[in-house]
Parts: sequence; C-alpha cells; structure tokens
Amino acid sequence: MTNQLPQTASVQTSEALDRDRDEGHVIECDGTEARISALAGMGEDAENYWAVGQLISIQVGKNRVVGLLYKVENGEIGWDQPEKRRVTLFVELSGEVRQDERRGAIFSGGISQYPHVGAVAHRIRKHDLITIYKSSDPSAVTVGSLSQAPDIPAVVSVDALLSRHFSVVGTTGTGKSTAVTLILHLIAKHKLNQRILILDPHNEYTSAFGAKANTITADTLDLPFWLLNLEEFQQVIFRGREGSDEEVDALREFIPKAKIVYKHGAQGVRRKSSASSAFTADTPVPYRLADLLKLIEEEIGSLDGALRRLTLRRLKARIEAAINDPRFGFLFGSHNATDRIEDVLGNIYRVPIGGKPITVFQMSGIPSEVVNSVASVLCRMAFDIALASNSKVKTLVVCEEAHRYIPADTQTGFAPTRAAIARIAKEGRKYGVSLAIITQRPNELDPTILSQCNTIFSLRLGNDADQDVMRKAIANGSRSTLAFLSSLADRE
Ligand SMILES: Nc1ncnc2c1ncn2[C@@H]1O[C@H](COP(=O)(O)OP(=O)(O)OP(=O)(O)O)[C@@H](O)[C@H]1O
Ligand SMILES: [Mg+2]
Repeated sequence: MTNQLPQTASVQTSEALDRDRDEGHVIECDGTEARISALAGMGEDAENYWAVGQLISIQVGKNRVVGLLYKVENGEIGWDQPEKRRVTLFVELSGEVRQDERRGAIFSGGISQYPHVGAVAHRIRKHDLITIYKSSDPSAVTVGSLSQAPDIPAVVSVDALLSRHFSVVGTTGTGKSTAVTLILHLIAKHKLNQRILILDPHNEYTSAFGAKANTITADTLDLPFWLLNLEEFQQVIFRGREGSDEEVDALREFIPKAKIVYKHGAQGVRRKSSASSAFTADTPVPYRLADLLKLIEEEIGSLDGALRRLTLRRLKARIEAAINDPRFGFLFGSHNATDRIEDVLGNIYRVPIGGKPITVFQMSGIPSEVVNSVASVLCRMAFDIALASNSKVKTLVVCEEAHRYIPADTQTGFAPTRAAIARIAKEGRKYGVSLAIITQRPNELDPTILSQCNTIFSLRLGNDADQDVMRKAIANGSRSTLAFLSSLADRE
C-alpha cells in the first residue's frame, strides 16, 4: 500500500511490543538509511532480540522516525565476550510519527527531521504501530491484521481502492482468490451502489457470494451477437483464428448493410448505399443474421468473378455453421428481437441492482474459441454503460488470471479484450469504472496496466522476474520491503 509500512514476516506478540526493550544508538545516517549500534539480546529472553523484519523507531526531538530493520551485522567485538556482543542494525527509513496538537499522534511517509548520531533507537512500541496502520478515512475497512501484532487490524480504504484500480498478486496457492473474495464482500457491504463483474475462469466465486451474486454460465448467458464488434465477431465465426482478409472485408461490407436493412428495410440499402457509412461493422446497433445471409446470397447471385463467389460462399457457410452450433446458442439463440436488450444488459450489469450487486461470469463452460470475444464485450460494455449512464452505473471489473487476457507480450492475447481493459485502466476512473487485476505472474502481465493500479496487495512472489516487476510498479516502495516478497507466508 502506498504510504504505508509493510507487514513483514517477523511476528511478535503485542506484549513483547510493549515491554521495555534494548536500545541502540544511531552511528550513521544518510537520506534513506540509518545504521544503529546495539547490544545483541542475551538469548534467555526469546522476545528481546533484534531481527530482520522488525520495525524500529528512532527518537528525534519530539518525533519518532520509523524504519524497517533489513540486515543485522555482527559488530567488531567477538562472540567470546557474550555480555558485549555488539551488532550493527541496518534500517531503511520510511516515515515518522509526530504529535499533532489536534489529532494526536500521526504517521506520515517522508521524514522532516533526520536522526542525528547518537539518537536512541528501539523496536517500535505498540501505540506507534497502531498510529502507523490506523486510518481516519470513513470508508476504511478491516481486511486482516498485522503479522507483527495480530491484535492490530490492517485496514484499507474502499474509496481509495475504487477511485483507481487495484491488483492482487502472488504465487499460486498463496490466497489471492480468498483475499479478493473478502475484499469484494467488504466493497459490496460498504458501497451499496457499486456493481462488481467478476470474470471467473475457474468457476470458483459463485459459492463465495451466495445470494448476493448473479451467476452467468454458458447456459444462462444471453448476449446478442450484434453487440460484438467486427474483431469479436470474427473470433466467433472463424473459431478463434484470424479470418482471411477477403472474408473479413466482406463482413465489413455486409454487416453495415444488414444494419440498414434492419433499420430502414430492404429499400434502405439501395437508397442509402452511399450513406451506409453512418453504420460501421462495429456500431452496436441490431441487425438480423437472416438479412446478413440474404445480402451475401444476393451478391453471390449477381457475381461473375469465381474467386469472390468462392470467398462469399465460404463466409456464408461459416456463419451458418456458427449459428447452428448449439454451443454458441447464447449468442445466436433468440436474438433477432431487440426489445429485450435492456433486460439482457440489465441482468449482466445489475440495473436495477435487485439485491445482487455481483455478477459472476463463469468462463470455464464457454467454448474456448469465443471466450475472448465474450470477455471483450463484457469489459467494453461496462465502460460504455458507465459512460452512457453519466457514471451512475459504476462497475468494478475483476479480472482473475489477468495475464491471460492482457499479457505482456502484445503479440499474444486477444487485441479487443486488451483494448477494452486498457481503456478502463486509462479512462475508467472518470466514469466510475475500476479494475481489479489478479495474477500469479505479474511478469507476464502488460506492465502499463499494472502501473495504473494504485493499490497493490502482494502475497508471496517466489520468482525473481515477478519481484522485479513489482519493484518497478511500486515507484515509492522501499527496497528492503520488496525484498520480503519472496519470504512471506501463505496468506500474509
Ligand atoms: N485466510 C485464509 N484462511 C484459511 N484458508 C485460506 C485463507 N486464504 C486462503 N486459504 C486457503 O488456501 C488455499 C489457496 O487459496 P486461494 O485459492 O485463495 O489461492 P490463490 O492464490 O487464488 O491460488 P491460485 O493461484 O491457484 O488461484 C485454499 O484452499 C484456501 O481455502
Ligand atoms: Mg485463485
């Protein structure tokens, strides 16, 4: 979390935090670090020790500068004189606690007054720890507790989470999905007008939300094919592969015509042949597949060129095959009537909310050739609906396994899905659409998306490349904190 100190792997009880403790003295300090000379603990008292991961506070005038102990080095006196075992503590400074006349103790990142040589340092006391992690934000919710002091709550601000985007990263099995479930529950509880759309590749979220969730499966999905833009439509009829240029050109030509036929009748096409530019293949207006097929058929009948005839025949056969494929029923099933479009979108985007703010889109039952197209439409529409409703319909789009749709390698992945998510990442905030990006491989995720996340929950990350990405993503993150990413416990 920005401006907050890390939770670290070092666990101490609160009693230990409150007890009188050994002191050390600052012997060196620069703008980011202090070195402290201290006597090592004597061994009998298991809690009275210096250890990597502890937070250290250094008294500077009335303030206490706080930092993270990231290295302990044996001092110059040898281990043969146990009563004088001196150690050097390396502390990365991260902020300070100061007394404010009105608000009491407050913590801020950044340091106004640096420790002087000889300043007294000790392990942080509980009241300072509470000060560091407390929040005055009314939208703050408790998501867990500090690992250094299990009785101090760890809080995050829901407003801050939703005002931009957040991500949850961590090696597989460390507890990402469980953490996301908890966070979403809290968001739904505190923001009554917030919609949540979960792209759920493993069908694991429905059970977590019970009656709050509206689940969409391959069987209940009801998405009119005409909402697909050309690229998405292509994915469907070419079964996940790229179509031939000739066939795609033909679609680009005939889909707008079919839209005109739907709107103005068959004469419309003849009259409006030049005005057809009003609609493109991407304009989200209804049309009938029967009209599309008929237009193609007519063109075939009027043609002399064998090559183009062949292209159009092939295209027509493809469209018919997709329409007749029962697995694509959710796209082509009953969608020639358009009066139900409000119902269709209302159901997915929860307008009205109807007590179920969360839509779980179970992707694993959707045919793999079209799953990308469907994810793309859903992300695109989340943005368009927020825009069209003047930000009244605010949606949080949760992308599990996000590296699959927005991979770092721009050659792979499905371009429209990437574009839809990138648009939310860049502009969503203005309209109240936010993203939750969840991945076990931050290294394989498009870095521009990660850089738009202003809150990152990081569980353990074992892989070096993944840790590097986090170092870059968290510009103001402290080096020593990030060094702990590889040694966090499960769920920490
Ligand atoms: N706070 C928790 N308390 C108890 N058990 C938990 C907690 N968090 C996670 N678990 C358990 O740990 C296991 C892994 O959790 P989870 O599925 O959330 O991990 P994940 O990071 O999403 O994994 P994957 O990368 O495979 O999706 C699950 O069996 C879950 O029940
Ligand atoms: Mg998971």
